[in-house]
Amino acid sequence: MQDVIDYLNSNRDAAVQRLSDLLRIPSISADSRYQSDVRAAADFVRDTLLDAGLEVTVAETAGNPIVYAEWLKAEGAPTALVYGHYDVQPPDPLDLWTTPAFEPDIRDGRIWARGATDDKGQMLTHVLSVAAWLKATGGLPINVKFVIEGEEEVGSNNLDTYLAENSEKLNCDVAVVSDTAQYAPGMPAVTYGLRGILACEVTLTGPNRDLHSGVFGGAVINPVNALCGLIGKLHDESGRVTIPGFYDDIIPLTAEERAQFAALPFDEAAWLADLGTDAPWGEEGYSTTERRWARPTCDVNGIFGGYIGEGPKTIVPSKATAKITCRLVPDQDPHQLTEALRQFLTENLPPGLTMDFTTQHGGHPTMADLSSPYMASARSAIEKAFGTAPVLIREGGSIPVVASFKELLGVDTLLLGWGQNTDNLHSPDEHFAIDDFHKGTLASAYLWQALADGP
Ligand code: BES
Ligand code: MN
Ligand code: MN
Repeated sequence: MQDVIDYLNSNRDAAVQRLSDLLRIPSISADSRYQSDVRAAADFVRDTLLDAGLEVTVAETAGNPIVYAEWLKAEGAPTALVYGHYDVQPPDPLDLWTTPAFEPDIRDGRIWARGATDDKGQMLTHVLSVAAWLKATGGLPINVKFVIEGEEEVGSNNLDTYLAENSEKLNCDVAVVSDTAQYAPGMPAVTYGLRGILACEVTLTGPNRDLHSGVFGGAVINPVNALCGLIGKLHDESGRVTIPGFYDDIIPLTAEERAQFAALPFDEAAWLADLGTDAPWGEEGYSTTERRWARPTCDVNGIFGGYIGEGPKTIVPSKATAKITCRLVPDQDPHQLTEALRQFLTENLPPGLTMDFTTQHGGHPTMADLSSPYMASARSAIEKAFGTAPVLIREGGSIPVVASFKELLGVDTLLLGWGQNTDNLHSPDEHFAIDDFHKGTLASAYLWQALADGP
């Protein structure tokens, strides 16, 4: 192990350089204009895994390629399957970046670029730790497989097919994903629960063209007004979602878990101040942490229709669109609730409008087994690298593959986040602390040994 640590220490600059080169590629999966960059990122990941000393293949899918790699020479030892994603969110709004999103900059001990923490930087820690083991010692204490995909940020719609078709090849004992966060600076975490998600887009059409609002206004339905009315109906006064059946399948929080959440340090005033808002909001009867980690939501992510250019215009618009997502908790089902949402909107649709409803993606919520020996190994590896034992947390974000690993491969996932939730993932000025990058890589290096040794 000391050889591995020495290797990592003397190759720190090269590791940052490698990350920087990957961050330069604008692999935005949501925007088809970046398809060649998405492919370039897949190729970059392939080459990095090859350099590390693994066997690599790039699998084509109906969407973006999946990079697969393996090193399976630790006979009799367990096998870990590492998942990560090389695609990133769009960088917009561009003018809010201090330095350009795809020109990585190092300042204040952090690397700044889209994907720095989500997920290029975090994903790379596992590749670099495996490289260090192989270069420094010629082997690894366990077997490793990597699945690095390029469609996570758009819902991983082609991943399940790949997992199902390759379930034999992907056979493993545990999955490892670094795509979450630490609880706070200096407080590393293991995440045992994630929310699921459903995503859809709804368009209402009223008149067949935009109309003069003086000539027609007040006598024909306005789809933007009507859409806002429908959206307004999605919550009641107490912040609860009104879609029939929405809460039916939820496993209630236990008193024990609520106490564990409450015991974590959380300065709500500072949290709100950082967000520039002066009051929390949410479902009555739940704390902010409970609302974020363990209660479902229904959010409009974007709404548009009518005239959105500069200056006034006087029309009754023809169309209005909203992009809606719900975060889900165990055991809510994304497919069932997408139908329930569609039905709710249909039943409440005022006359004079037609509705077009498109499902975009869905992912199941997850909870991992806290008592597994792999969980204990992960905790001890993190403690060694970060100098402090991790706290156990849930998170509100979604990583669809985690439920798929459980369903299709039968394994739990260790969610080991090295970044911070304040790293501006999905926001302007995304960054990743260089120190967290190196500590994460070290924790990953310890993890392979800990998984082999057992707790
Ligand atoms: N890495 C995030 C998920 C995440 C972030 C989990 C922070 C926990 C804490 C991931 O890349 C992501 O953004 N996922 C999407 C889901 C997807 C289906 C679009 C999300 O959560 O919005
Ligand atoms: Mn991610
Ligand atoms: Mn993301």
